Amino acid sequence: MATWRATVLTLFPEMFPGALGLSLAGKALADAKWALEIIDIRDFATDKHRSVDDTPSGGGAGMVMRADIASAAIDAARASLPLDTPTIYLSPRGRPLTQARALSLAAGPGAILLAGRFEGVDERVLEGRQLEEVSIGDYVLSGGELASMVLIDAVVRLLPGVAGNEASLAEESFSSGLLEYPHYTRPREWEGRAIPEVLLSGDHAAIAKWRREQAERLTKQRRPDLWRHHGKRQE
Ligand code: ADE
Repeated sequence: MATWRATVLTLFPEMFPGALGLSLAGKALADAKWALEIIDIRDFATDKHRSVDDTPSGGGAGMVMRADIASAAIDAARASLPLDTPTIYLSPRGRPLTQARALSLAAGPGAILLAGRFEGVDERVLEGRQLEEVSIGDYVLSGGELASMVLIDAVVRLLPGVAGNEASLAEESFSSGLLEYPHYTRPREWEGRAIPEVLLSGDHAAIAKWRREQAERLTKQRRPDLWRHHGKRQE
């Protein structure tokens, strides 16, 4: 299978690979288990000031990334990539990123990720180039770069041969629709707190039952939204 390829369009190429160059994602990058290409949007500016933004039509605060510049960068990225590569605009207005979307992206050839700055990009680019808008949460970052890194990290660790332990991927939070159960390791007692007895019992069925109960308890308490959904899936 061809290497999964992330192509990031940004005004801050120096931000990459950043955190993606270290630890699990960084090792996988060095081992060519995935590829990262960074395109500087400013390279597509056409005037002598290399401007990429302009004032919002209708007035208001901030600046808007120009449609002609953003589209030129997108078209250049698309020219050398498989036709089924999704193009994603990172934005707080997008659909929330989920583990399910990370899994479906991991199954594809890669992704083109447009990281915005300023107030946003001209709406006509989103329509004209049919971008998918994705948010990493209900808060506003100063640009899409960190959001694109979050998305890439979530995908890359799911690629075959990257995480090494397929079983732990299957058990982690969200895969089952539940938050993950608590973990413990030695020492057996720490500051007066003992490891739950059942985990030291060697009784695998009892351990599995305890872990499922804990996962359900945590999900009910912390994420009633997930819990309602989980209930429905069981019926
Ligand atoms: N850009 C700014 N804020 C963002 C968010 N919450 N998610 C994705 N992209 C963003």
